[in-house]
Amino acid sequence: MPLLISLKTHYGEHSMTSVGKCNLRNPLLGRRLRLGFVGGGRGGLVGQWHSAGARLSNHWEVLAGALSSDPDNAHASAAEWMIATNRSYSDWNEMAEAEAERDDGIEAVSIVTPNWTHHRIAAAFLKAGIDVILDKPMTTTVSDARELLELQRATGRVVVMTYPHAHHAMVRQAKHMIRNGAVGTIRQAHVEYAQEWATSPVPDRGKGAIWRRDPEKVGRASTTADVGTHAYHLLHTMTGQDIASVRAEFHNCGAPQPMEDTAFVNFRLENGAPGILWVTQAAPGQYCGLRIRVWGDKGGLDWDQEKPEVLRYVPLGEQEQIFIRGRGNGILPEAERLTHLPRGHGEAAVDAWANLYAEAGVAIASRRAGYALPEGSVELSGAEDGLKGMLFIDACADSHESGGSWVALKQ
Ligand SMILES: NC(=O)c1ccc[n+]([C@@H]2O[C@H](COP(=O)([O-])OP(=O)(O)OC[C@H]3O[C@@H](n4cnc5c(N)ncnc54)[C@H](O)[C@@H]3O)[C@@H](O)[C@H]2O)c1
Repeated sequence: MPLLISLKTHYGEHSMTSVGKCNLRNPLLGRRLRLGFVGGGRGGLVGQWHSAGARLSNHWEVLAGALSSDPDNAHASAAEWMIATNRSYSDWNEMAEAEAERDDGIEAVSIVTPNWTHHRIAAAFLKAGIDVILDKPMTTTVSDARELLELQRATGRVVVMTYPHAHHAMVRQAKHMIRNGAVGTIRQAHVEYAQEWATSPVPDRGKGAIWRRDPEKVGRASTTADVGTHAYHLLHTMTGQDIASVRAEFHNCGAPQPMEDTAFVNFRLENGAPGILWVTQAAPGQYCGLRIRVWGDKGGLDWDQEKPEVLRYVPLGEQEQIFIRGRGNGILPEAERLTHLPRGHGEAAVDAWANLYAEAGVAIASRRAGYALPEGSVELSGAEDGLKGMLFIDACADSHESGGSWVALKQ
């Protein structure tokens, strides 16, 4: 079948040993995949980043959507997204059923709605046979996350969790440098995510500022679930190690709210190395300050999301080395394949989203074609990672509620 041959040819040419040459902007099936959205309409925050990334990736065409819980907003937003009227839905359940019936129905759905809706919506699309791209945190409870993981396994569909920071070229560079021994044995790690938006009550911050602090809606933690999961995921991705246990304290350092806007988390990695994970949304002057530092017995690495093209590396006893995103000059093939413009022409957050959607496109196209991708062809986060995020939140909440005792992360 020509389809499969071209797929095999693609990976034959770009085998694991020369993975750096693989062009992630080439759709594997020779066409774009059909994508739908739940959420993302006017007034929503993250939907526009997803849709920008999907379009830039060249792997997706956005053809259907239930873009808002408000029908007028849903249809008005669909018109702006150039979604045909008969594929703009006011109800995501109706969308899952109708799209599964169509010969040209969507092949994946992006779910960009608030946390407490993720479980039901993702389950409905998986049951309809549609692959799922789901924003974090996966759900609001560990039991819902376990159920979604089981459903993903039972249906054999793909679930991609959207942790975009892991798709920056220089995060990939750091991850593979660590795998290749650049820092030696990891001895400690610090990761932080600092924002300012919750410092004072700001009425026009949008609905997201309200539901993020509502324990009825988001579960046991707020900032720890919102940006703590990003910090945890980045740490896990870059170091290749999970957090084994945590000792957490939640605080309200900004405008009075029913839930925490700040968390201080001491942790131990699987190898016993200690570290600190600090997240806050109440630090004036901090915009999107996701920063990670990893130190081992042979060197240290430092990456900052606000300067995503730069990776600082200091081999012990030597001068520091600054790696700048681009081709050559020490950039590894795994990072080169996430790089698109020459050095000096800036790439940032939307490019990371595009890389995520490109890797998701490769994984979903391969599943649809029945082709098993060689290991390492794409580096995505799946349903297991979604569950891990929920286990991290739960352990932090347990620790905080117990007055700061050490709590092991469950499996
Ligand atoms: N991956 C990231 O970097 C990142 C960044 C920000 C937010 N998020 C996550 O994205 C999700 C959405 O966050 P946000 O800040 O965009 O929220 P938001 O409140 O700004 O937007 C939510 C969107 O979902 C729509 N929606 C709500 N219920 C719906 C329903 N039943 N049917 C259809 N649409 C519905 C709303 O109309 C809106 O468009 C959250 O889970 C959040 O944690 C992820």
